[in-house]
Amino acid sequence: MGILDKHKVLEKNATLLLVFSFLVVTVGGIVEIAPLFYLENTIEEVEGVRPYSPLELTGRDVYIREGCYVCHSQMIRPMRDEVERYGHYSLAAESMYDHPFQWGSKRTGPDLARVGGRYSDEWHVDHLRDPQSVVPESVMPKYGFLEDKLIEGEYVQDLMKTHALVGVPYTDEMIENAAADFKVQVDPWGDYDGLVERYPGAQVRNFDGQPGISEADALIAYLQMLGTLVDFSTFEPVASR
Ligand code: HEC
Repeated sequence: MGILDKHKVLEKNATLLLVFSFLVVTVGGIVEIAPLFYLENTIEEVEGVRPYSPLELTGRDVYIREGCYVCHSQMIRPMRDEVERYGHYSLAAESMYDHPFQWGSKRTGPDLARVGGRYSDEWHVDHLRDPQSVVPESVMPKYGFLEDKLIEGEYVQDLMKTHALVGVPYTDEMIENAAADFKVQVDPWGDYDGLVERYPGAQVRNFDGQPGISEADALIAYLQMLGTLVDFSTFEPVASR
């Protein structure tokens, strides 16, 4: 009996085919899944990556609410054209505290994974207000209303607790200081030492240039942080260490 004839037996007997399919899927599953239980972490830890500050986290929520991810990805692929345009390819660790992740699947606008520091805050204010005023051919909608929506951060503690629930290592201290950290990040004259200690590299400024804390403040704080946490002048992938 040739191998094809043997296979014919399988193909003609539904029960046998089911049993063998199940076996194949089981073996495949074990080979793929079992090793994961023996790894401490599937994401290589990278220095600098930290949970988002209360203001950045709030800005991230605005980003999600407004559907920015519909037109913008946050994942630079390791291809030459992408790396030359956007910078170092994205590391898994850079989105390890993103729930849900913002990799995106559509680029109507450019990738934003490393947009932090690329433009001034004023540019962002102008661009959100009226994208065509700075990039005439832009098809991005206007988001000027974000400047007028003042926020107090009354929900930020709950937001952080929710993120802690799904594994973001927010400490009790971070959660306790959430409201104060939220406010002080837009106040360069305030006492922000605690904030910067808890969230190294947190940028403290009046992001939208106006009194009060607005959703634009939070969103720009988030955008200006994107891609700035890892220092790529010293970063070395594990494989080349
Ligand atoms: C309908 C699609 C669309 C949506 C929705 C959208 N954008 Fe854009 N965005 C674009 C396009 C197109 C560009 C490129 C032209 C420009 O700079 O305006 C762009 C550019 C940008 C840039 C400049 C990036 C760079 O590297 O030059 C930023 C920052 C940005 N968008 C942020 C946002 C944020 C934040 C939101 C949500 C509040 C958002 N976008 C929503 C289409 C969109």
